[in-house]
Amino acid sequence: MTNIQLDRIENEALRNRVVTPEEAASWIGDGMTLGLSGFTRAGDVKAVPFALVERAKENGFKVNVFTGASLGSDVDTLFAEAGIVNKRLPFQADPTMRKSINAGDMFFVDQHLSHTAELVRSGVMGPIDFAIVEAVAVKEDGTIIPTTSVGNSSLFATHAKNIIVEINLAQTPLLEGIHDIYEPDKQGARGPIPIEKAGDRIGAQGIKVDPELIRGIVFTEQADSPSTIVQPDEETKIMADHLLDFLRKEIELGRLDETLAPLQSGIGSVANAVLHGMIDSEFKNLEVYSEVLQDAVFDLIDAGKIDLASCCSITLSDEKMKKVFGNFEQYRDKLIMRPQELSNHPEVIRRLGLISINTALEFDIYGNVNSTHVSGTKMMNGIGGSGDFARNARLAIFVTKSVAKGGNISSIVPFVSHVDHTEHDVDVVVTEQGYADLRGLAPRERVPLIIENCVHPDYKKQLWAYYQEALERGGQTPHILEKAFSWHQHLAEHGTMKMNKETVEVK
Ligand code: COA
Repeated sequence: MTNIQLDRIENEALRNRVVTPEEAASWIGDGMTLGLSGFTRAGDVKAVPFALVERAKENGFKVNVFTGASLGSDVDTLFAEAGIVNKRLPFQADPTMRKSINAGDMFFVDQHLSHTAELVRSGVMGPIDFAIVEAVAVKEDGTIIPTTSVGNSSLFATHAKNIIVEINLAQTPLLEGIHDIYEPDKQGARGPIPIEKAGDRIGAQGIKVDPELIRGIVFTEQADSPSTIVQPDEETKIMADHLLDFLRKEIELGRLDETLAPLQSGIGSVANAVLHGMIDSEFKNLEVYSEVLQDAVFDLIDAGKIDLASCCSITLSDEKMKKVFGNFEQYRDKLIMRPQELSNHPEVIRRLGLISINTALEFDIYGNVNSTHVSGTKMMNGIGGSGDFARNARLAIFVTKSVAKGGNISSIVPFVSHVDHTEHDVDVVVTEQGYADLRGLAPRERVPLIIENCVHPDYKKQLWAYYQEALERGGQTPHILEKAFSWHQHLAEHGTMKMNKETVEVK
């Protein structure tokens, strides 16, 4: 071992457990359940999964793969191509794996990201045979120091029969000290989680495990995969302006002040762009309590707008990754990284009163939101943490462009084709057309606001026509059930949701 490698394993006995990725992969057998580190492409294990895929070429086998969230380094692509996954949870965002899921070649459990921990702890998910966790170092007492995500790593490591650690020399050792690892007791025997402010630290700096359970240590030297978000465009900038207008109104009405409330922003280009829009705003001394930190958070830190950011992973574009991790001293005292059970915990989210911004694929005239299923059947990525936040936040805001696929899809439809967030969990919806504040409104009060403020002009008349016909049928939440999915049906048959007069009678 080199000196650098020796420095990263303080425990003398554990130095003898350094193995090749191939050897570690040879311990994994058919039918086992693996708990892999990794959350939205950050801090994922990068060597053993590749060795596993190579092994599968010689003799096929299937494993269950549990993670924090999506993986980088094309691991999900390779797993899907090799056909070695029986069941995957709780989130993925890989186009190849998406195809396998939608073709029925593997099972995918789309789970609230705060729920996996409770299910594993209570034994519902069965035993974890191997936790495979990326680390910057292993301490004298066996404590594992994670890298750029915690996700479910601490949960897997403390509940697995065996642990394999991948020490990644490409990750800065300065990450040590930003983590805050804490596991609540079992349900029924648990006190309050003592996070009262976004910046409170309540746990340890690493994952405390019995060193005897660390069966092997592998060295790697590969950076995280950069995020795939696209930079803010004209439309997302306009959406950000609408959101800022809404927040300014809340301040005028005395419900918020210029420091707002701890912010959560979901994955994806749209949520990133909206947060980015705060750079030139008057808001200041902001705090973030979120799961993933994307580029915009670091732009806001650089601009002096954000004082503190709590997260469970950091996922950055290539350029931003070099800047942030190349100058990590500048950022580390502003960052806290926790397990996803804590970053997404309903108790903490409700206590802190978060402003939560997530992205919808589509929403309907009453405010139900679909974040996951294209046309009601095909999985996109998964619900991720959006449900954890939406149900419990002070303000649950959903953003989306009003149209997709060159205008052939309206993101506002009569009835969402799959419900992730019910009308009861959604406070404000925002598109580039404007926003609708749905709080305190009855279903029939929401519709005019949504149609007039959020819908693209190409679809306004068509949506009014649906609603007026529905009103004739009456009810608390008027619908024409036989036409509720007619827009999706029209899309499947004609490649567009735009209907002509023969299909829908415009009144
Ligand atoms: N029907 C079909 N496709 C749609 C659509 C709709 N109503 N609305 C958007 N899309 C497509 C876009 O065309 C785009 O397709 P492409 O990849 O082929 O270009 C894709 O969905 C992504 O949309 P985009 O507008 O680029 O938004 P995004 O990158 O912000 O992603 C989600 C949007 C909803 C897919 C993403 O935010 C997500 O998976 N959310 C669920 C999980 C979540 O919210 N987690 C939050 C806590 S981390």
